[in-house]
Amino acid sequence: MAIRNIVKLGDDILRKVCRTQLTFDDRLAMILDDMADTMYRAEGVGLAAPQVGILRRYCVVDVGDGIIELVNPVIEKQSGRQEGEEGCLSIPGKYDTVIRPMKVRVHAQDRNGKPFTLTAEGFKARAICHEIDHLDGILYIDKVVKKSGSEVNK
Ligand code: NI
Repeated sequence: MAIRNIVKLGDDILRKVCRTQLTFDDRLAMILDDMADTMYRAEGVGLAAPQVGILRRYCVVDVGDGIIELVNPVIEKQSGRQEGEEGCLSIPGKYDTVIRPMKVRVHAQDRNGKPFTLTAEGFKARAICHEIDHLDGILYIDKVVKKSGSEVNK
């Protein structure tokens, strides 16, 4: 396991649409392990493959109740609405208000390719939506509804 470099805002990689992950092998497992390490080291709650320079559709999320690995995730259903502050490891020191669904149902594959469905609410739903957006080159700053004025690194 290793800490990977996190791609920062301004790098074109963050704006690309990622491709479906088709192979479920040791390499994928290693990258997912590295992504978890990298996320925990940076004290984030999620990290998507393009943030470590890989244009494939997978991400990791941990809002404090354990690691979730989502390979080829698709939001099947969403409901409700929440407004709250969001940040991103690729945009250090900045937080702004973004509207997300309150509840989502996600279909994805695990690191072995096995399909599963996950339901998440509240902050976990927010984190999952944020990471899946990364896979389509979308950043939370594209969706900000209210500037929080909490920009630390100018
Ligand atoms: Ni992010």
